[in-house]
Amino acid sequence: MSSFEDLLAFVEAETDFASSYYDDAYLDRRVSARMRRRGADSYAEYLDVLREDDEERAELLDTLSVNVTQFFRDAKVWTALRDVLVEEAADGRVSVWSAACADGREPYSIAMLALDAGIPARDVDILATDIDEDALERARRGYYESTRTADIRDQLDFLDDPMAYVEERGDRGFVVADHVRDLVTFERHDLITGDPKSGFDLVACRNVCIYIDKQYKRPILETVSSSIRPGGHLVLGQTETLPGGVKERFEAADPRIRIYRRLPEA
Ligand SMILES: C[S@@+](CC[C@H](N)C(=O)[O-])C[C@H]1O[C@@H](n2cnc3c(N)ncnc32)[C@H](O)[C@@H]1O
Repeated sequence: MSSFEDLLAFVEAETDFASSYYDDAYLDRRVSARMRRRGADSYAEYLDVLREDDEERAELLDTLSVNVTQFFRDAKVWTALRDVLVEEAADGRVSVWSAACADGREPYSIAMLALDAGIPARDVDILATDIDEDALERARRGYYESTRTADIRDQLDFLDDPMAYVEERGDRGFVVADHVRDLVTFERHDLITGDPKSGFDLVACRNVCIYIDKQYKRPILETVSSSIRPGGHLVLGQTETLPGGVKERFEAADPRIRIYRRLPEA
């Protein structure tokens, strides 16, 4: 075994991070960044650091689980999603799955957008899932603070009246209002090993497959696609595509922004 593989085997055994699902180049970039921080010149040397230092194990785990997200990430997608939500709600309730929801900003954006589009709260049901319990904990809290690199007020500015959906806390913090939170249920779900769900009108599975090893992309997208009712919609991240075998189940509703419609069963 190479020392990089030794290192990954250690991470897998000592933490609950399933490194084998992830793309090697991605893992290497993340591990190398931590090695530079700790001044380790080889994987073997860094493995020694990991064995001895609990805090470094936690830092590495944090670096490996990419929870990067935003409210209304990729604005043009959200303009199109507003129409999708209105179309899906036209004949009654609209049920949405935000798969890989990170700290909750994606499902809360969906909830705010649905309300902003005039869909009655009683008709909106959003399930939000992620593999990472810490991210889900932050999501349930629904509190977000601006940092040097992320301005929450700017992110919320996609909406004409964002303050209808959040309350300010201090000079940098925002908490999602109760009537928005009530529309979202958070639950842990692993897209690789977890069961598919069923009957969703819209599933958002964005910016998770870009980090995942090629062999697991298809199982993830199979799980996701069989969770959508025929005629329902799927939205992927802006650099993601549907693999062969799954692509055939969809037509492009808006190919430029990766929104697809599930075809009726043959
Ligand atoms: C970059 S975030 C994307 C968040 C959001 N969808 C967006 O586009 O802004 C990727 C998320 O995928 C989650 N994730 C990684 N592997 C997963 C898996 N096997 N099942 C479910 N979620 C997973 C991570 O915990 C992380 O929160």
